[in-house]
Amino acid sequence: MIYVLNGPNLRRLGTREPDVYGADSYDDLVELCEATARELGAEVSVRQTDDEATLVGWLHEAADNRIPVVLNPAAFTHYSYALRDAISQRTAPLVEVHISNPAAREEFRHNSVVAAVATGTIAGFGLHSYVLALHAITDMTQSS
Ligand code: DQA
Repeated sequence: MIYVLNGPNLRRLGTREPDVYGADSYDDLVELCEATARELGAEVSVRQTDDEATLVGWLHEAADNRIPVVLNPAAFTHYSYALRDAISQRTAPLVEVHISNPAAREEFRHNSVVAAVATGTIAGFGLHSYVLALHAITDMTQSS
C-alpha cells in the first residue's frame, strides 16, 4: 500500500489556474495514480484534504503502519511546521511532489519546510510528477 496525499486546493485541479496546473481534473489524477500503481503491482490510496489536521492524521497513520507516501503538501509546503514534524516521524520513504516547479515561481514558493525530512522531491513535471514518485517509491521499497 502507498498513500498519495494531497493538500489544500488540489481537488480543484482542472479549474484552478489551468495555465499553471494543467487541464486535468483531480479525478484524472486519481485515475493516473491508480493506473500507475496497477502497472507497478502496487496498491494506492489517493486522498485530498484542505485541512492541515487531517493531513497530519494521515501521516501518523502512515508512520504507524510503515506505509510509503507520495505527498503534495500544496501551500503547506511553504509554512507548515506541523506537517514537517509529522513527516519526521515517517517509517518508510516519503516523496514530496509538486505539479508546478515552485523554484521557478513566486519567492514565497522557493522554500519548502518539508523537503529536508522527505526522502526526495519531484517537481515541475505536471501530473507526471506523481508517476515518477510512484516509480521511485516502488523501486526503493522493492529493493529494500
Ligand atoms: C503545488 C505548489 C505550491 O506552491 C502550491 O501552493 C500548490 C501546488 C504544486 O503542486 O505545484 O498548491 O504544491
